[in-house]
Amino acid sequence: MFNNLAAAITCLLFASHVTAMPAGLLQNTNDRPVIGILTQMVTDEVMKPYGDTYIPAAYVKYIESGGSRVMPIRVTYDAAYYEDVFRKINGLILIGGAADLMKSDFARVAKIFFNLALKAYDAGDYFPIWGTCMGLQQLSVLVAGENLLTETTAENEAMPLNFTAEGFLSRMFQDFPSALMKAISEEPLTGNFHRYGLTVKTFLENKYLNNFFTILSTNIADNGAHFVSTIEGKKYPIYGVQWHPEVNRFSWDDRLNFPHSYHAVQVSSLLAQFFVNEGRRSLHRFEDPTEEAKALIYTYAPVYTANFTSYEQVYFF
Ligand SMILES: *[C@@H]1O[C@H](CO)[C@@H](O)[C@H](O)[C@H]1NC(C)=O
Ligand SMILES: *[C@@H]1O[C@H](CO)[C@@H](O)[C@H](O)[C@H]1NC(C)=O
Repeated sequence: MFNNLAAAITCLLFASHVTAMPAGLLQNTNDRPVIGILTQMVTDEVMKPYGDTYIPAAYVKYIESGGSRVMPIRVTYDAAYYEDVFRKINGLILIGGAADLMKSDFARVAKIFFNLALKAYDAGDYFPIWGTCMGLQQLSVLVAGENLLTETTAENEAMPLNFTAEGFLSRMFQDFPSALMKAISEEPLTGNFHRYGLTVKTFLENKYLNNFFTILSTNIADNGAHFVSTIEGKKYPIYGVQWHPEVNRFSWDDRLNFPHSYHAVQVSSLLAQFFVNEGRRSLHRFEDPTEEAKALIYTYAPVYTANFTSYEQVYFF
């Protein structure tokens, strides 16, 4: 998303003496979740001096604001590494950016986690995945087995959501008060920064997408195409938004149409809380606290990038 306005392509993005809890206490929710965020490869020249991969800090703040810790996950390891990480974390976010959705390492790693999540769910083990913008597009490629995206440009446009009937019965919006459902249906509370997307027609004609996801909302692109803007798994805890809920609270570049109203902030807060709460249903954990501490985002410091990108802060890895 918007490292460079002109080049916004696919889309945008205590104390040590405390004693541990008594062992053997069976818990069925996990109040110390860790959500993984897959890093994006740095492609923008101005960002190259800082690292090979990155995560805009807005996504980290978004997940933290929902009550979770974050683990940045690089995309260059082998499958065994991710299988190990999967057993330790409680959910995954696929963020916006630019990557080849069939051939990149981002796509390869997304597929590993996606397959593990489905297999786990079928065995009674909950592992939610959320895709934002390119993340939704990546999920559609994983489900359909092919890239079905077409031009659905809505770049730098804030819009209301056009809910389907299912949108009102969904898990994602279940905690939205009715006044907020009305507001998000009428006010421009969702920031769009994309060129490509899934048209409603393509979605409905594809049996894999249709069987896997429910369309919760749609929007209209510049070229008049109706595109899928919010989806959730019918059976699996897999969620996607073509828009960017994180920007409503954590992005401020005034050249971009980031919604910042009271309702916009509520939308962003409630969706972050929803996804983190999905993560609380996962009992995966790090066995080794030292390993956990090293894995978390806290050992990294974000870099100030507002003077050369559209992000205020970016984590580089
Ligand atoms: C909203 O979606 C309906 C179909 O569900 C469509 O007929 C209508 O044109 C859409 N309106 C807007 C403004 O997107
Ligand atoms: C951006 O600002 C930081 C902090 O003032 C400075 O160190 C850096 O050189 C600036 N970068 C560019 C590309 O202007």
